[in-house]
Amino acid sequence: MTQDEMKQAVAQEALKYVAKDTIIGVGTGSTANFFIDALASMKNDIKGCVASSIVTQKNLESHGIKIFDLNTVEAISVYIDGADESDAKLNLIKGGGGALTREKIVASVADKFICIADESKLVNVMGDFPLPVEVIPMAVNHVKHQITKIIGGTPFVRENFITDNGNLIVDIKGLKITDPKAMEIQLNNIVGMVTNGLFANRGADILLLGTPKGVRVIEG
Ligand code: A5P
Repeated sequence: MTQDEMKQAVAQEALKYVAKDTIIGVGTGSTANFFIDALASMKNDIKGCVASSIVTQKNLESHGIKIFDLNTVEAISVYIDGADESDAKLNLIKGGGGALTREKIVASVADKFICIADESKLVNVMGDFPLPVEVIPMAVNHVKHQITKIIGGTPFVRENFITDNGNLIVDIKGLKITDPKAMEIQLNNIVGMVTNGLFANRGADILLLGTPKGVRVIEG
């Protein structure tokens, strides 16, 4: 089974968590794109979606799926998105595609967060994947210094990349994230950083993990 086939399998499985006649949140990335393809088959069963990025919004619209502005909705029944890494407790690193801020907002509004990923994303200790953080451009040097001082690792500004919100992404390499919840809070205290890519204090509720033997369901 290829990696894409595993992503397709979890995307298909995630349809089981889509409640009829509700608004759902949709993430960003290659696995989320497979989910959008699958969701098209039941687009008439849901009210519509809140998108976590401009690219996801365009993709949903191309399938004829209605988009809602987050400020106009009362509830999001479920948020479905991929991840760059997950540990066994369903703490996540996200933001490889640079959409972490909107992803974190939609995830925090949703009643339930279903993460969909192929088996390569499940790790013992997160940090091999560089941790993305979104930064206000004028604060980038300050934020890099604070990262080095407070949590360590080596911060690099992502080249030729501007987020949907007009900001920069800094990728932090060389971390061993043994306490993701504490690290997320430490990063939240750095002025000039908009969002960090640790989804730990609001991690996933369920991880659907694609394996060659089928989809594993891991509860947080
Ligand atoms: C987007 O900003 C990310 O958070 C994605 O959810 C993450 O990078 C997973 O992407 P893939 O499904 O493409 O691996």
